[in-house]
Amino acid sequence: MQSLTQSIDVLFANAGVSKGPTSLSPDGLETVFATNYVGHYALITRLIPVLLETGSKDGADVRVVLTSSSVAWNVRKLDFADFRRPPVKGEGWETDPYDRSKLACLLFGMKLADHLRDRGGERIHVNIADPGIIFGTQMHLQLDITHTLPIQIYVALLNWWYGLSIAEGALTSLFLGTSPVIAKEKVTGKFYRPFGYALPHNKYPTLASNQLAEKLWDWTEDVVSNKEAELRLPS
Ligand SMILES: NC(=O)c1ccc[n+]([C@@H]2O[C@H](COP(=O)([O-])OP(=O)(O)OC[C@H]3O[C@@H](n4cnc5c(N)ncnc54)[C@H](OP(=O)(O)O)[C@@H]3O)[C@@H](O)[C@H]2O)c1
Repeated sequence: MQSLTQSIDVLFANAGVSKGPTSLSPDGLETVFATNYVGHYALITRLIPVLLETGSKDGADVRVVLTSSSVAWNVRKLDFADFRRPPVKGEGWETDPYDRSKLACLLFGMKLADHLRDRGGERIHVNIADPGIIFGTQMHLQLDITHTLPIQIYVALLNWWYGLSIAEGALTSLFLGTSPVIAKEKVTGKFYRPFGYALPHNKYPTLASNQLAEKLWDWTEDVVSNKEAELRLPS
């Protein structure tokens, strides 16, 4: 990975799916969690040396922007056993695979910000975006099969009422990735909602848990480095 580039100025970790097959990924992970979180973890953590190198240059201003979602608040606790079992229809918000994957992205972003700062990356700004409810993307057209019909109808109505255009949906990530304000005010490890509004972490009990963020990081590091060993890749 590092041989591809020696310098990274802005990294957007935006790819995601809202539903996956009800079977596990070839690596034995729940597919939405694997796509929305584990993939981004693997890519970004393996680029840390390049990020640190770029951030050490004169006048550097490096940005990492992860896309999460306000649905992360729906998750009250992360049961790590869920990461390795297929989703079960109608289990409720607390265990929704998409919501869980977005909470994981959020915790990862917060922990990554600390991790880089502790390693001298003061000029690397890692922030997390909730783009809002965006009307018209591919994802928006997918209804989650794990929810019951009344919940699907409720979500559809909510989306219709609060929905943003695709252009408006891009603004929060673009703000975090390009605005001079972020570097000037040394903003890192923060969760932003439309438009340019940072949420206080302590408002949400799950988010306040650095311990949980650390546990998740360690769990994911094990998964990714075991896979690298299996593929005989350098970690
Ligand atoms: N739409 C919303 O209301 C909403 C709300 C909150 C958060 N978000 C977040 O916003 C981000 C973008 O979603 P969107 O609404 O723009 O949905 P989208 O139109 O479905 O776009 C998703 C993007 O992710 C890419 N992608 C999916 N799986 C991938 C994989 N395994 N490897 C590489 N790329 C992959 C897709 O690439 P291909 O087109 O090549 O498949 C596509 O470009 C997601 O992280 C989503 O969770 C969306």
